[in-house]
Amino acid sequence: MTTSSTPSAREPGAEVQIQFEGHRYAGVRGQTVAGILLGNGVRAWRTTSAGERPRGAFCGIGVCFDCLVTVDGQRDVRACLRRPEGGELVTRQHDLLPGRQGEDADNDC
Ligand code: FES
Repeated sequence: MTTSSTPSAREPGAEVQIQFEGHRYAGVRGQTVAGILLGNGVRAWRTTSAGERPRGAFCGIGVCFDCLVTVDGQRDVRACLRRPEGGELVTRQHDLLPGRQGEDADNDC
């Protein structure tokens, strides 16, 4: 018996697609955005605020916030937790630290 009314829970195993940087990536319904990207060979989808170093999934359980993306215009979505319904536009998110606009920082965070 299904306990959730989300489409992801109703159709386990069906294909779902997301868009990222001009490509469509397919995964299995119920996978997270991070799972779909990783499953298609995309390992990084964010850059650090200082140093612009690539980041993707780190903890994979919603704790570290390393995986933040924008999904259909909604910022600060944790890719490791979001289970897409299909057709979502996922975009990179990069923000400089407050007071550091215009700096070329060497430190990472
Ligand atoms: S990978 Fe840590 S919050 Fe998503």
